[in-house]
Amino acid sequence: MGRADNAHRQRWRRPSSARQGDIVTAVVSHVRWPCPDEPGVPARYFWAMAVDTAHQHRGHGRRLLTAVAALARASGELVMWADARESAVGFYVACGARVSGEPYVDDGSGLIVRHVVFTIS
Ligand SMILES: CC(C)(COP(=O)(O)OP(=O)(O)OC[C@H]1O[C@@H](n2cnc3c(N)ncnc32)[C@H](O)[C@@H]1OP(=O)(O)O)[C@@H](O)C(=O)NCCC(=O)NCCS
Repeated sequence: MGRADNAHRQRWRRPSSARQGDIVTAVVSHVRWPCPDEPGVPARYFWAMAVDTAHQHRGHGRRLLTAVAALARASGELVMWADARESAVGFYVACGARVSGEPYVDDGSGLIVRHVVFTIS
């Protein structure tokens, strides 16, 4: 099983965002969805993670991931994962993820991506 399909993502998408005053600086969508690298483990899948270019490298991305992990933990999930584009893999690793499996072409975006997996403690 791979990433959540588009219909499932649209129906169950739970958006999260980070703000600075009235300005949204970072967004991500997430949904409960199994991780192929951790079969049978309750998991949360996230996608469309982005920080406004004017606000990058200030910790907003890390804080948003921490917030999603807290929501996942509260839902009893033990893993959080994503299909990460190559240019963002270092960010996820810096935030505590491990890289799993080989790179592949994402059929939605056409980008080369890799699984990044967080263990929620
Ligand atoms: C990738 C992205 C979400 C990072 O958000 P950010 O707010 O700039 O990241 P943070 O400031 O929270 O950085 C957290 C850590 O990751 C590191 N980091 C950030 N971007 C990185 C990158 N592209 N490669 C390697 N490390 C990176 C930071 O140095 C920091 O490490 P430190 O705490 O050890 O100093 C943001 O750059 C972005 O939106 N990029 C364009 C869209 C994108 O690629 N989204 C991901 C799709 S899979």
